[in-house]
Amino acid sequence: MALSFGGAATQYGAMPAESRYRALFESVRIGPVTAPNRFYQVPHCTGMGHALPQTLVAMRAMKAEGGWGVVCTEYCSIHPSSDDHPYPFASLWDDGDLGNLAAMADAVHAHGALAGIEVWHGGSYVANFATRAPSLGVRSTPGRADPIQSQRMDRRDIRELRRWHLAAALRARKAGFDIIYVYPSHGYLVSEFLSRSLNERTDEYGGSLENRMRLMRELLDETRTAVGDRCAVAVRFAANGHGDEHLSEHEAHDVVAALAQLPDLWDVVLADYDEEMGSSRFVHEGALEERVAYVRRLTGKPVVCVGRFTSPDSMIGQIRRGVVDLIGAARPSIADPFLPNKLRAGRIEDIRECIGCNICYAHDYRGAALRCTQNPTMGEEWRLGWHPEHVPAGGGGSVLIVGAGPAGLEAAHILGKRGYDVALADAAGQAGGRVTHESRLPGLAEWARVRDYRLGQISRLPNVSLHLGSHMEAADVRAFGAKHVLIATGARWRRDGIGRWHAQPIAPLDAAGVYTPDDIFAGRLPEGEVLIFDDDHYYLGPVIALKLASAGVRVRYVTTEGRAGAWSQYTQEQERTQRALIELGVVIEPNLALIGFEKSLATLACIFSGRTRTVAASAVLLVTSRVADEALFRALVGEDRDAQHHAASAPSGSVAVERIGDCLQPALIAMAVYSGHRAARELGSAGPHAQRERVLI
Ligand SMILES: Cc1cc2nc3c(=O)[nH]c(=O)nc-3n(C[C@H](O)[C@H](O)[C@H](O)COP(=O)(O)O)c2cc1C
Ligand code: SF4
Repeated sequence: MALSFGGAATQYGAMPAESRYRALFESVRIGPVTAPNRFYQVPHCTGMGHALPQTLVAMRAMKAEGGWGVVCTEYCSIHPSSDDHPYPFASLWDDGDLGNLAAMADAVHAHGALAGIEVWHGGSYVANFATRAPSLGVRSTPGRADPIQSQRMDRRDIRELRRWHLAAALRARKAGFDIIYVYPSHGYLVSEFLSRSLNERTDEYGGSLENRMRLMRELLDETRTAVGDRCAVAVRFAANGHGDEHLSEHEAHDVVAALAQLPDLWDVVLADYDEEMGSSRFVHEGALEERVAYVRRLTGKPVVCVGRFTSPDSMIGQIRRGVVDLIGAARPSIADPFLPNKLRAGRIEDIRECIGCNICYAHDYRGAALRCTQNPTMGEEWRLGWHPEHVPAGGGGSVLIVGAGPAGLEAAHILGKRGYDVALADAAGQAGGRVTHESRLPGLAEWARVRDYRLGQISRLPNVSLHLGSHMEAADVRAFGAKHVLIATGARWRRDGIGRWHAQPIAPLDAAGVYTPDDIFAGRLPEGEVLIFDDDHYYLGPVIALKLASAGVRVRYVTTEGRAGAWSQYTQEQERTQRALIELGVVIEPNLALIGFEKSLATLACIFSGRTRTVAASAVLLVTSRVADEALFRALVGEDRDAQHHAASAPSGSVAVERIGDCLQPALIAMAVYSGHRAARELGSAGPHAQRERVLI
């Protein structure tokens, strides 16, 4: 039996007549099709694409089941000259692609939603590693990351491009899609033509704005003529242009004015991806409004725009102010595929709000299937058969969870929903573990949503009890007498400098002046001239640097990487992070390792040459690596076990003890939540039944 969160099968029934959010559930006519409501999942890639079609279909279907009125694909390539390998993009190169895409459209239709497809050519951006075709550009220009330039397109190439685009649109219609995009933004091929700098053509495709937008106009026209009887034609366009040297804000307005009536739908975004898809550290909900609002005034056509919308008040505000007709969402639909249905049922408190960490994007960027900090089922709908709103009923019995951080909280609420009697204990006086600590750092406040969503769920489960301020030793755990024990005691930052660079402790290291993030969490802040050694490369080193610098501390930020918080390039935060550090006067020293600290002098070594120099520092703060806090686990199971499930003697007989979260593997918060979810879902079952998606011959 599967249990549905929120009670009966009718949990998503009709909306109360008095609801002030009713307007969000009105249908919207988009050319020849009608969206059943205003919830629009804009195109977003998934790290699945053509490589994991079943995984993809199940994930998109889940969003339609959860109430999204429109569900779009990711960027969908029209031709082998637009191959983003090794990133798994969607493709419509030939009829062989039809089956996979039709499966997605069918699955979305099965829940009454419309299916949209983002027809795409990557232009100079792609490297075509799989097809080895030359990439194409309005001029020959370097691509994203590789020492490769595109081939300058001539008139024949433009004619070919139009032919491929048309063929892809016709195939998309055949596959059953209702909304077909033209995509002149995000730096891809059609936007290259709009660029004043890149487009040096002297023919009818270059020079004046009218000429530079000719390709965009032709693609819109041709798509509409070919499929417009049955499909709506959408355009995804940066309302504030592409930066002054490419397409100024003023010119962008002119493009919208000139083409206002051509598409059936304007999907408006911003020039700067860091802002359009900004992390919550830098960009807040609904932040695009001011720059996109003019579009709806210029066109009578429906407008959709994003803004990491999780609050129904923000959504309804945008509709009432006439900014948009449809609420666009990528991340909110990833964090909670059932957001619309929960809203309709008045279950606002059950919405798992996106925290804006961009871990979803980071994994897609790394070529891995999408995952999410808030929604551990994301990407596991097909592989593990996980549903975000249903869990299998458990076999009953009692579970003790020690540690109420992200893993412990997730495990407790899932086990509670499965019907177990759960006791969740934490030595601290507050729940949330690292999430609570980190959410107090500059810009990370929304991370507390990881804790608050789960505490909210637990508070409505009478079979889950929370015991804060409860330190537990092994004897206490045994005496408690639970049938299952999950140890979620987290991890601590190392004080010896061991990490990526140092396999051995840094020596000499004057312990009195050494700090770690745990000291910051505990309110022990270093003073004077502080050197932060960041060998972790993600957000914590820079965020602590910002906190200290804002408090007037002189901060020198040293990292073994070439940039501050280098890994945050994947979460689309790196550049803003570095800018913020520079603006606060933090001295950034890349490509250096801290190799010694004594007598208020830190010794730094160049990671390439080994050359050293010393700098004055009253304290060093080490952000290198962590050790799992597994003392309790070891006390229960001993030192020499090699499996994750253990039997430990207890008064009531044998008890199964398992580690979860950072206590098992110090890693991302997303991984801790996933670990807690998995342990809770699989407790008492025969173990994971993973389906494997692969090409078989
Ligand atoms: C994981 C991920 C993948 C994305 N891939 C695409 C894409 O393929 N095409 C596109 O036009 N936008 C893409 N985007 C941008 C989103 O469509 C959207 O504009 C952005 O995330 C802001 O919306 P949100 O605040 O609702 O997330 C992607 C965003 C995310 C989070
Ligand atoms: S990974 Fe983070 S940003 Fe992405 S949807 Fe989930 S909570 Fe939001």
